Amino acid sequence: MTNTWHSGLESQREEVSDERLPVAGSFPSWLDGTLFVNGPGVFEVGDRRLNHWFDALAMLRGFRINGNTIRYTNRLVRSEDFRVASEEGRVRRQLPGTPADGSALRRLYLGLAGDFQDNPSIGVLHLEGSVYAVTESPIGIEIDPQTLQTVGRRDLSTGLEADATLGHTHVDEGVQWGLAPSFGRKVAYTLFRREPDEPPEAVTRLWFGSHPPYIHAFALTERYAVVPEGSFGVDFRALLSGIPRGRTFLDAFRRRDGTPRFHVIDRETGARTAAVGAEPFFVFHVANAFELDDTIVVDCVAYDDIRAITGLTVDNLRSDDPAVPRGDFVRYRLPLNGGRAERETLYPGPAEFPTINYTAVNGRAYDYAYLASIDRGSLPTAIAKVRPDTRETHRWSRAGVHPGEPLFVPAPNGGDEDDGVLLSLALDSNADRSVLLCLDATTLTERGRAPLPHRLPAGFHGQFYDATDPRRLMQ
Ligand SMILES: [Fe+2]
Repeated sequence: MTNTWHSGLESQREEVSDERLPVAGSFPSWLDGTLFVNGPGVFEVGDRRLNHWFDALAMLRGFRINGNTIRYTNRLVRSEDFRVASEEGRVRRQLPGTPADGSALRRLYLGLAGDFQDNPSIGVLHLEGSVYAVTESPIGIEIDPQTLQTVGRRDLSTGLEADATLGHTHVDEGVQWGLAPSFGRKVAYTLFRREPDEPPEAVTRLWFGSHPPYIHAFALTERYAVVPEGSFGVDFRALLSGIPRGRTFLDAFRRRDGTPRFHVIDRETGARTAAVGAEPFFVFHVANAFELDDTIVVDCVAYDDIRAITGLTVDNLRSDDPAVPRGDFVRYRLPLNGGRAERETLYPGPAEFPTINYTAVNGRAYDYAYLASIDRGSLPTAIAKVRPDTRETHRWSRAGVHPGEPLFVPAPNGGDEDDGVLLSLALDSNADRSVLLCLDATTLTERGRAPLPHRLPAGFHGQFYDATDPRRLMQ
């Protein structure tokens, strides 16, 4: 079988500025705004290859879309990590799967000092009028939304007594809801809320020992925040003792003792309403969650084993026969009055990057989720639309095309929940270039595509900010 995914895991150093893209078919005339997609750009530093998919130096992709007029810009994010990598050929701070350059003593010092990477490849955050490229770090890198040039840095953990904030966050009626980890003898995750132009307020703090869960995202229902405490995470004792020998987060990523749980926190009071035990699981992304009588329903992509993290090495993903971690799209039912979580599969994986009509249905009962789904190789080969209640599924795929996250953009004054389009930045391996896809979200048929002048590595998460109403469209 031809390895069509390999090139989606290769570096791209070329930067393009404000180039108009040819369009086949049609993007809707109401689509007016900017799509940002964040993700890997470069997989090497000096003569070293970075080990893990999450290590790559970040590249922002920007598309200014007004109907069929699409202008494309891409730019490697000028973080401090990027500066040191390009000027000195060094890994400045430990990356998830690649140790920092330098002596054992220097690595230990950096480890003890809790110094973080600022290479922001996970997502984009529009906050108080500015746009930031973000990752699991205290630092958001502010970018000019037109040119994607780096224009500033902001410590997003200021005021939180925390060491970092997560790349995934919610914005609900203009209020940001986030999680902020702090590392010490014990590890805490602070749930916080931030009103525009106000300092963040801690809602509550979840405490863990020296082997905390890795938490990548969480869910909001109308009344609760739901935080998944999965079965795997970094063992910080093992990490600190291994750092001088060049060990990384990846090496110290281990199965945790005890029962994994979902923490259900009252958004108003901060009280923990329930901690619901579950069979071993690991979750990166939650599609949606909502309240149903005395139950919380959580729809997410769940993994059963540690390969969810350890299987995402660049070597494995590039290989002809990759062992891809399998995440299934599942529904958990969390009883609030005692008992364990029940789980059922909604759509068998491997699948990832779940999205919904976020502005209309996040936190509420809903009808449609969208995912990128893998049939072979290590990159998605299809976009799936799943109706969780009935498990009815529709799919879109084309041979040799690897779609990225399908971001739902609602039609203005849309009636039905699925009235809108899915934007997905894909790799067209047939043409050896990337292509911006626009699918009708109702029918899952292709409406338009805009080929890029070059090929990009597969990306992570995007946001489309409407020109007049720049709301967050996924968590
Ligand atoms: Fe993510």
